[in-house]
Amino acid sequence: MKYIFGNWKMYLTVEQSIKLAQELVQSVSSHQDFQYAIFPNTLVFSRVYELLKDSSIGIGAQHVAGFPMGAYTGETSPFMFKEMGAQYALIGHSERRHIFGETNEDVRKKIEMCIEAKLVPVVCIGETQEDRAQNKTQYRLKKQLMKALENLSLNGSRLVIAYEPVWAIGSGMPCLPEDADDVIGWIKQEVSQYIHGPIPVLYGGSVSPENVLSYVSHADIDGVLIGGASAKFDAFMEIISQLKKSL
Ligand code: PGA
Repeated sequence: MKYIFGNWKMYLTVEQSIKLAQELVQSVSSHQDFQYAIFPNTLVFSRVYELLKDSSIGIGAQHVAGFPMGAYTGETSPFMFKEMGAQYALIGHSERRHIFGETNEDVRKKIEMCIEAKLVPVVCIGETQEDRAQNKTQYRLKKQLMKALENLSLNGSRLVIAYEPVWAIGSGMPCLPEDADDVIGWIKQEVSQYIHGPIPVLYGGSVSPENVLSYVSHADIDGVLIGGASAKFDAFMEIISQLKKSL
């Protein structure tokens, strides 16, 4: 089973989000080999949920607070997302880390809060271009994983990891599939120090209809987290049709 997750970021207006959700519901049929989920903007979350709820497409939050409830102006509790039908939450996306200054400690708090709220955390990790140039990819990922997972009790909850090299996100310069496969194999070994049992690891960063198959055809790569191409109906449908061809 491969995860096909779409992060709409802040690409779409309210009306465009609703239209895209309507189009997807009409066009995406359930498939035993694929687990689909969309991460719409918080403001349109419930309207998109109402459209997707009886379909084969799951839904998750793009951004949650690291607190259950309280005086946190502008934030949204993972418990509220759960009440509104969310199954997943993106945690530690590179844009949250690099534009909004989220730290490994914030990421850890949010993971714990999601587990409590019974949302599946989709924990994003990745090295920067600078890390890569200095041969620090493993160092960076090791640190992010350790802070996120050391002594974490999952309490039977699921967890997903997305390997998203920062330099590959939105740049049109995807990581070579062989390199992504190597890193993901290594990530799985690292994760096994902290968590028993298989944890799915997805690849994200400039995934497109042209390259999606080259990632998911690797056994270790459990799926893809798609940004830009997931916010366009034609591109997302083409990704799904490419995936189906591979079966
Ligand atoms: P991209 O974004 O597919 O537009 O590179 C991926 C992501 O940010 O998850």
